[in-house]
Amino acid sequence: MQIAVLNGPNLNLLGLREPHIYGHVRLEDIEAAVRTRAGEAGVGISWYQTNHEGEFVDLIQGLPGSADGSLINAAALTHGSLALRDALLAVDVPFVEVHLSNIFAREEERRHSVIADLAIGVIAGFGAASYLLALDALLGYLRERDT
Ligand code: DQA
Repeated sequence: MQIAVLNGPNLNLLGLREPHIYGHVRLEDIEAAVRTRAGEAGVGISWYQTNHEGEFVDLIQGLPGSADGSLINAAALTHGSLALRDALLAVDVPFVEVHLSNIFAREEERRHSVIADLAIGVIAGFGAASYLLALDALLGYLRERDT
């Protein structure tokens, strides 16, 4: 089984960026933790980060045939990118929406996600652990679906 983890704009700055909101953990640390957890489960991980909306669309379009499911932290694109929504509508790949922060407890503009209704579910607010919780949830979903 192969899972693609897609990370959006400014997540490359985790650890430096607004640590009071996102913590001190770096994206590389989250990647390592996800790879370890996936390895234990016998699952492969493809890991991506882009600051560019079009590249994010390309990554989503590349999911069919290369990933059984996806974890998606679209960062700020979550709140307004219809291009991302359209790409997710065009591909039929199950995904979990992930956020480090609890977007529902933040500014008004962040409380809405344009992709949440397309996701299996949303995990937000647990910092780096959101990714591990989302991986467990996605693997549980895929295994249940395939039995
Ligand atoms: C984020 C929340 C978004 O609102 C924000 O734009 C991000 C990170 C999160 O993981 O908490 O860049 O997706």
